[in-house]
Amino acid sequence: MPIGGMSNKFLVIGKGGQLAQAFAEILRGQAEFLGQPEIDLTEPEKIIPTLEKFSPNAVINVAAYTAVDKAEEEEKLATIINGESVGIIAGFCARRNIPLVHYSTDYVFSGSGEKPWQETDETSPLNAYGRSKLEGEKRIAAAGGKWLIFRTSWVYDHSGKNFLTTMLRLGKSLERILVVGDQFGAPTYAAHLAKYSLLALEKAIKMPEFPSGIYHMANSGMTNWWEFAREIFARLRQKNIPLRVKEVVAINSSEYKTAATRPHNSRLNMAKLEKDFGIIMPHWQAALAECMEKI
Ligand SMILES: NC(=O)c1ccc[n+]([C@@H]2O[C@H](COP(=O)([O-])OP(=O)(O)OC[C@H]3O[C@@H](n4cnc5c(N)ncnc54)[C@H](OP(=O)(O)O)[C@@H]3O)[C@@H](O)[C@H]2O)c1
Repeated sequence: MPIGGMSNKFLVIGKGGQLAQAFAEILRGQAEFLGQPEIDLTEPEKIIPTLEKFSPNAVINVAAYTAVDKAEEEEKLATIINGESVGIIAGFCARRNIPLVHYSTDYVFSGSGEKPWQETDETSPLNAYGRSKLEGEKRIAAAGGKWLIFRTSWVYDHSGKNFLTTMLRLGKSLERILVVGDQFGAPTYAAHLAKYSLLALEKAIKMPEFPSGIYHMANSGMTNWWEFAREIFARLRQKNIPLRVKEVVAINSSEYKTAATRPHNSRLNMAKLEKDFGIIMPHWQAALAECMEKI
């Protein structure tokens, strides 16, 4: 499906990650994908010479340092990849006057309260990964030009390393699984994130003025990790996938120690996405059902 009359002209930075794979499914033949052999975001000085080899109509950056706990020890490296290098990519796009699509996270917020975060709410990351992603947001805005940053949450897919595939693995090997029940947000199916980002980009390109800015984009509705896990197991059972798990126990974040603190409130308000692009994201349960068809 050609997107916005821009066939074969996307440059996607990232190749092996889950969102990169989701874009690969949609953009078959319309995009070049740069994996780590072709581009290394730990080496910002080499980024421009690499990008200069291409003449894309738009750049989609799905590459990121995403090891949330490890980032506590490697904040400098995470900030080079998620901050400095992102700024260089944004500068390239601004100079060429081509749109940049980039991804950020609910981790830029403090996670307090229960209200879904709006794009304009104050940021206050709890961990190094969140700070590095916020740095990327700021560098893109400073570069100017045409850009869309989609802040998302809890991304998963039918394959790769994510919460869904972890539950599938644990559910086959353990009878009792402990899952955090006091962090609230929306799981986001990578395929939907890719699909609706492209739809937003297509609409943005057609607008008289490109609506550069930050947008919240996750599957709609709200849950917690424990409920999400139970829903996953229920659906796996419906598919007659053999499981060992008998009990899924909800625990508090304080009982599950991780190097990086996670936000309790990851809810994202998506009114701006609907207002500017008319996009209403599918509910997380419908998204899970769709994803499960691939398992
Ligand atoms: N996963 C989530 O729950 C979540 C939540 C909120 C926001 N996000 C954001 O969504 C975007 C996509 O995330 P994802 O879930 O697809 O992440 P992912 O599966 O961890 O993939 C990360 C990608 O970044 C690439 N990468 C890592 N270090 C690199 C480097 N030094 N140079 C070049 N490429 C590098 C990886 O390449 P290799 O395959 O070669 O390793 C991989 O393709 C990211 O911006 C992330 O911050 C994700």
